[in-house]
Formats: sequence, structure tokens, C-alpha cells
Amino acid sequence: MDKILVHGGPRLKGNVRVSGSKNSALPILAATLLTREPCIIHRVPDLSDVNFMQQILAKLGADVERASGVVQIRAEKIHTEAPYDIVRKMRASVCILGPLLGREKEATVSMPGGCVIGDRPIDLHLKGFEALGSAVRIQGGDVKLFASRLIGARINLRGKFGSTVLGTDNILMAAVLAEGTTVIDGAAEEPEVVDLANFLIKMGAKIEGAGTNRIVVEGVAELHGAEHTVIPDRIEAGTFLAAAALSGDDVTVTRLDPSHLTAVTDALLTAGHHLDIGSDSIRVRANGGGLPLELRTEPYPGFPTDMQAQFCALLATTKGVSTVTENVFPQRFMHLSEIKRMGAQVHLEGSTAIIRGIDQLSAAPVMASDLRASAALVLAGLQADGITEINRVYHIDRGYESIDDKLNNLGAQIERTKA
Ligand code: EPU
Repeated sequence: MDKILVHGGPRLKGNVRVSGSKNSALPILAATLLTREPCIIHRVPDLSDVNFMQQILAKLGADVERASGVVQIRAEKIHTEAPYDIVRKMRASVCILGPLLGREKEATVSMPGGCVIGDRPIDLHLKGFEALGSAVRIQGGDVKLFASRLIGARINLRGKFGSTVLGTDNILMAAVLAEGTTVIDGAAEEPEVVDLANFLIKMGAKIEGAGTNRIVVEGVAELHGAEHTVIPDRIEAGTFLAAAALSGDDVTVTRLDPSHLTAVTDALLTAGHHLDIGSDSIRVRANGGGLPLELRTEPYPGFPTDMQAQFCALLATTKGVSTVTENVFPQRFMHLSEIKRMGAQVHLEGSTAIIRGIDQLSAAPVMASDLRASAALVLAGLQADGITEINRVYHIDRGYESIDDKLNNLGAQIERTKA
């Protein structure tokens, strides 16, 4: 198992390019199951989660080929049972339920468990499938869906913590092949949902309203093959922006969509950082330290939960008292115990972290608990005194393409070794 050693100190300088979005690529790859014809997806990031999704598609019977960021898939004949040994490795595999139900009217997929960021129910997905006319059974750890036909319906996907991103994706992918009109109220508005809808539209689906909280789908009899380029990863981009604010001299993050990052750039501007926002790049210049923040995570277009851990790392060395309230996954604070081991002054009150900024963190051996927590620890290590040793870094490879190489190109000193 690899570990990462981050040498604290070097100031970052230069340009860094953002990869394709993980959370767009996963449902888009799943959506290729909706047609027998070939699909070509560009700018697919090289990540272990994406690799799991490619393996799932192959196990279901699709031909999958990958060459330098381009994935070609032909799902001519498919099975509808996804094997537990691969599905259990990635919670997002749940998004094959929608396309399997849409195309074959049946699906058997392992029920995802909770994970370190909290309880991860799929009740809203299942409620949506039922509304479309599917029977839903939980049996032997699997979710089983079956329907003689799918019929368009009115579905509300708003839950206690807002809408559901993968739930919206799943219902969208089943509804495109249902008979008649489906109206999804309380739909997730994330750019990744819009990207999926755009791909489905290229495949022949009739969808209106993606990017708003009401999506209307007019079912069609079948979909055809299509070619698509995945949008830039706004969370990877935001992570580099946070790294630049924390230990940058002059960093430009390129090939991103600034309109997807407004909540993050607003937070950095409020904290007093200097940003030049271009059409597809953002430059961050050193300002000698920012101001404390009061952050609250919210569904898009609010401040993303997937940026919360990285901002905790930034605020740990920002003078003054900051608060960070997690409204999407209220238990997503595992990274705090690790940055506390590096000297951060943080305590939790319910789902609010209260962070008193100190001058510098002190390097320590730490443990990555999930994807974004690992990124936060790398950021913390960049400006700590000494060498921060991060264990369990397989989490970071799930969602960041070559993060160590990209940061090293900006002047960081990050090594990867066998633990
Ligand atoms: N929820 C329910 N019932 C459901 C589904 C969700 O109560 O049926 C709750 C969740 O427990 C949570 C909230 O609704 O409190 C939002 O969860 P959501 O379903 O939107 O999360 P997701 O679709 O499973 C995606 C991303 C996550 C990201 C969340 C929120 C992918 C593959 N994953 O998960 O990304 O945090 O949306 O934006 O798209 C990550 O990339 O590190 C990551 C965890």
C-alpha cells in the first residue's frame, strides 16, 4: 500500500491543468449501458473509481476500451446482475441501477453500505424507481428491481439534506426509456447532472430543465450511440485553488469552468485572496494570509461538501476563528482528528467545526479516511514544518488524477513510497 510524504515549505508557482470530472464520468459511463450502439467518451480521468466503473461495465457484458483519456464502450448484449466483488468497492456503482432498469426492465446490484462520510441511504432512488412502476426488493444484500413496463411519473427527490445527485442521475437514466412524461421535482442542480443530461440528449433522450430543480423527461423507445467530452472536475479545481491560497506564490488553475466554482471563489474572495477569474482559468496570487470564514456546505450552487475538508485545512492556518458547518453529510469530519494531530486547534459542535487559526501546522504521520480528507491532509502537509506522512493514500487515487505529480510541477515536494 502506498503512502505519501509531503515536505512542508515550498511555495507553489506555475500552471496546473484540471482533469475531467470524476462525478460526471461515472454516471456518463453507466449511461452507455442504455444503448446497444458504441459510445465514445473523451476526457475520462484516470482514477481507480473510473477503473471500477469500467470493470463493472465489462462484467455486465460491454466491450470497454480505454486509450489516453478516451473510453469507447459498446454494450451490445448485457446482463443485469452486477457482481458484489466489484460493486462493493465503490458506492457510486449504485448508478448502474437506473440504466439497467431503463433498458432491461430489471437490475440486481449490491446494496451500498454506509461509508466514512456518514450513512449513505438510497431510499430516494428506490422511491423514484417505484414511482416509475418498478418493484423493489432488498434480498441477500442486493437491491432487485423489476418491471414489466416503466411509466412516466411525478417524482419528488428532495430529502432531509436536500436533493440527491446520484438519485437524480438514476431516475433520469431510467425515465429516458419510460413510456410518457416524468417530472422530477427537487432534482439535484449540480453541473454533473447537467453533463449527464447533455450526454443523454446526444443519445436521443428528450430532457428539459437539467440544472434546475425540476427536470422533465419525455420517454423515447430507444437511444443511440453518442460521443461526449466530460466537463472539468470542479472539486479538483477547487482543491488546487485552496492549495494556492494556502501555500501559493502565484498559481493559475487552467481548463476549468469558473461558473461551476462560484461558491468556492466567493469564499476565497471573502477571505481576502487575490483571484483573477478568466474564461477557463483562475489565477491566485499570494496575499500574505487570509481572513477567517463562516462556511456552510449546501447542495449546488452552495458551497460543496466535497470542498469542506480542504477548506478546514486552509482555515487551520488562517488567523482568527472560522466556522464550517456541514449540512449535506453532517458526520463528514473524520479529517479533523488527523489535522488536530498536526496541531490544528479545532473542535466540533454538532455539525459545525470551530477552527482557531494558528501560524503553522506541525508535520506528523496521519491517516487518510476518505477521498477529500486525503486531499485536505496533503494541503495541510504543504505548509507544515517538516515531513507529513499520509497513510492509506489509495483514497486519493480514487478521485485525483496524479495529484502528487501535478503539485510537484508547481514546486511542491511530494514523494510516494511503499508503506
Ligand atoms: N440521501 C438520502 N437518501 C438518498 C440519497 C441521499 O437521504 O436516497 C442524503 C445523503 O445521505 C446526503 C444527501 O442526501 O445527506 C446528499 O447525498 P447525495 O445522494 O447527493 O450524494 P451522492 O449522490 O451519493 C454525490 C457525489 C459525492 C458528493 C455528493 C453531494 C458522486 C459519485 N458522488 O454523492 O461525492 O459528496 O453527491 O454533493 O457523484 C466525492 O466525490 O468525494 C463524493 C463523496
